[in-house]
Amino acid sequence: MLHLRVISGSSKGRTIAMEEPLLPLTIGRDPSNRIALEHAAISRFHCRIDAEAGDYYIEDLNSTNGTYLNGRRIQKEHLSPGDELIIANVGIVVEASPKSIYQSHAPLDVNVSIDVKSKPDNSLTLANATEEMGATEFLAGFTADQSSKAYRALQVLYEADRAFRDIEDLKQLLENLLDLIMANIPASRGYVFLLQRDTGNLVPYVRRPAEPTQKDAELIVSQTILQMAVRQQSSVISSDALVDERFTHSKSVATLAVRSAMCTPLMNRGRVLGIVYVDSTSEANLFSREDLGLFSAVALKAGIAIDNARLYDDLRSLFYNTVETLVRTIQAKDQYTSGHSTRVSRYALLVADKLGLSTKDKHQLYLAAMLHDIGKIGVPDDLLQRPGKLSDDEMERVRNHVQLGASMIEMLGEMHPIVPLIRHHHESWDGSGYPDALKGEEIPLVSRIIAVADTYDAMTSDRPYRKRRSHREAIEEIKRTSGTKLDPRVAEAFLEVLREISPVRADATAVLTI
Ligand SMILES: [Fe+2]
Repeated sequence: MLHLRVISGSSKGRTIAMEEPLLPLTIGRDPSNRIALEHAAISRFHCRIDAEAGDYYIEDLNSTNGTYLNGRRIQKEHLSPGDELIIANVGIVVEASPKSIYQSHAPLDVNVSIDVKSKPDNSLTLANATEEMGATEFLAGFTADQSSKAYRALQVLYEADRAFRDIEDLKQLLENLLDLIMANIPASRGYVFLLQRDTGNLVPYVRRPAEPTQKDAELIVSQTILQMAVRQQSSVISSDALVDERFTHSKSVATLAVRSAMCTPLMNRGRVLGIVYVDSTSEANLFSREDLGLFSAVALKAGIAIDNARLYDDLRSLFYNTVETLVRTIQAKDQYTSGHSTRVSRYALLVADKLGLSTKDKHQLYLAAMLHDIGKIGVPDDLLQRPGKLSDDEMERVRNHVQLGASMIEMLGEMHPIVPLIRHHHESWDGSGYPDALKGEEIPLVSRIIAVADTYDAMTSDRPYRKRRSHREAIEEIKRTSGTKLDPRVAEAFLEVLREISPVRADATAVLTI
């Protein structure tokens, strides 16, 4: 349920699954490590990640320069979502849930094996994919007596408009594209690849069927057909792969018995953005030229939408990176709260998935969770870290961090919707919280989710004034305060999330949040 994402160094952006069959996962300079990293400051066998009864931990293998977890050099520690590892110049974060928005734009985590064929190719290629290509090919195939086909085609193009309109989420857009194609073309497999802007590689983002069969676990497609579509910016069809020269050395034909295949570039403003590929193992000559025309026309519409979604995605990533850097900088001054907001945001997103929040609400939740305690930069460190009891006046100053945080965020116009979410993250379900003593559903749902995640993470973390509580004690406390301090529906969803990810050891120790 957890994975690692490399956030700095030459492998930046790479994600590594931490599924138990693949463990232990070793990191080091030696090529035999599962994560082999090239850097003089990294030892040959630097550290190791493993799991015991669903509980993940990292262990330093007596490396020369050490393994750092949340800013501290460690020997052996458990891992939770939001933790940050530093190994020499490589930064890695621990994340959970494939459904969280944080991961929603990541490529598929599958091995791609693209056949290499050296023979030159001279077989069928259709006309160039100019702006008109899809529609021209498509409409040319129809005559008056085929009006029902034409009607169906227009209907599909209309559906394409609806499926792509106003979709800012790139992954959702690609899924809509492939679903529409698979619903209207008799293909058994389909893939959308995007061309990576930094490496120029084609990387798969969406597949249908979504869950591959055993035989198809490794993605095998013909390199020739993909490269032809990219280089010639044109749609390609193979009516019978078994006799098609282009597939002579194809693993996909040999292993999967692919008979018919078709692919088309996703383009905008003369640039290839990616490829849609479909095939079938059932029979030769499965795809007609009308299918190819419709396929190309839908892809043409998708190209424009993909370009827009990528632009929006770039802006959003830049914005999120800025927020994360800001939060990390604030947390860096205090090793006890290091990683707290990041972990709260990860837990909160898992709960949001469980409760079915919309993508828009999840974006707001993520920002509010990351920034929920930003007001603490206005509270003296002495009050936040004092081991003893605080006076009423001092406690009031600490509690004031919610108003302070809300007013700081209010000054940033674009963040206006998250102001109340931050202000109310210490309200209680029964009305006994602060600052406005809101009750029940008067409290924004996002604030109620943050409250549960915040409570759990604060309880299970060390603070200067007390030791952490065990995972089991934290669960008991959430159950005990469900319906009084915490929204019972949210608390139940959170407990379900915990059962699924088992993020911490049962003997872990910590206290309630202020
Ligand atoms: Fe707080």
